[in-house]
Amino acid sequence: MKFYKKVLSGLFVAGLVLTVQAEEPIVIKFSHVVAADTPKGKAAEQFKKLAADYTKGKVKVEVYPNSQLYKDKEEMEALQIGAVQMLAPSLAKFGPLGVREFEIFDLPYIFDNYEDLHKVTEGQIGKDLLKKLESKGILGLSFWDNGFKQMSANKLLKKPEDFKGVKMRIQSSKILDQQMRALGANPQVMAFSEVYQALQTGVVDGTENPVSNFFTQKMHEVQKFMTITNHGYLGYAVIVNKKFWEDLPVDIRSALDKAMVEATQFANDIAKKENDDALAQVKASGKTQIIELTPEEKTALKKAMTAVHDKQDRIPKTLIENVQKATGFKK
Ligand code: LMR
Repeated sequence: MKFYKKVLSGLFVAGLVLTVQAEEPIVIKFSHVVAADTPKGKAAEQFKKLAADYTKGKVKVEVYPNSQLYKDKEEMEALQIGAVQMLAPSLAKFGPLGVREFEIFDLPYIFDNYEDLHKVTEGQIGKDLLKKLESKGILGLSFWDNGFKQMSANKLLKKPEDFKGVKMRIQSSKILDQQMRALGANPQVMAFSEVYQALQTGVVDGTENPVSNFFTQKMHEVQKFMTITNHGYLGYAVIVNKKFWEDLPVDIRSALDKAMVEATQFANDIAKKENDDALAQVKASGKTQIIELTPEEKTALKKAMTAVHDKQDRIPKTLIENVQKATGFKK
């Protein structure tokens, strides 16, 4: 009798373990480098919520903001080996992966506004670009907006001559390197998580950022001037480990696809306002002086930076022409 009781309770425990195991959610680790309180940080949280809703709790997205898990370069490697499953790196960070075409987004002044940009990201060019990631073991799911970059430094930057010799932190994009050199600045590639300290200690003098990144990293504490240039776009590709994604049950994948479509809409709806609000907060802090350019000053900066378009040696000419055609780009 005792023996049967033991067997029965053993079976009961085993059954419980199996049930618990069967109900373990699929975990998606989503790592990123910016603060939670940014367009990307908020959209990642929105995706997490929608993914849980649409899969009825079968998928748990764990969001790790602020380079908590990995810095820029490491996060790409972590995705490829499957240590994390989802990222949303800036489009300027795909060059080191060997997909140079993404650097098209870094060409200065190629997009005047979000509408022009969406003609590319939401059209065939965007689809073709995401497809290029597959050979790297990566699937591109979507583009998420952040915004247009502004120049900041501890000196006043208005004219191209003002940039001469100024050490400017850039993301790991050769086009951004060319852009800064076209101004006579001295570009330095650096992980996002290191920028605040580098600015504080004078390792670099300035940087370029959408204001939401600038404010949430507290760069206004260590930069005296910000010039409103809107000279380039910074946004993201949401990417996943291809094998992980393709191995998911079909119903789960389609629920996640739906969650991604809605999270993308959310990201793109809030991005502009997040940046406008951040600018208001930088102004209110009184720590960074905001510089508006005259039309003549804008023209001079644009002329100096767009020189990069003409001597392009990294991005296929046809891609540049197609993007310029899609946006109606004018010098
Ligand atoms: C940067 O490194 O400046 C940005 O790519 C950070 C980000 O992810 O917005």
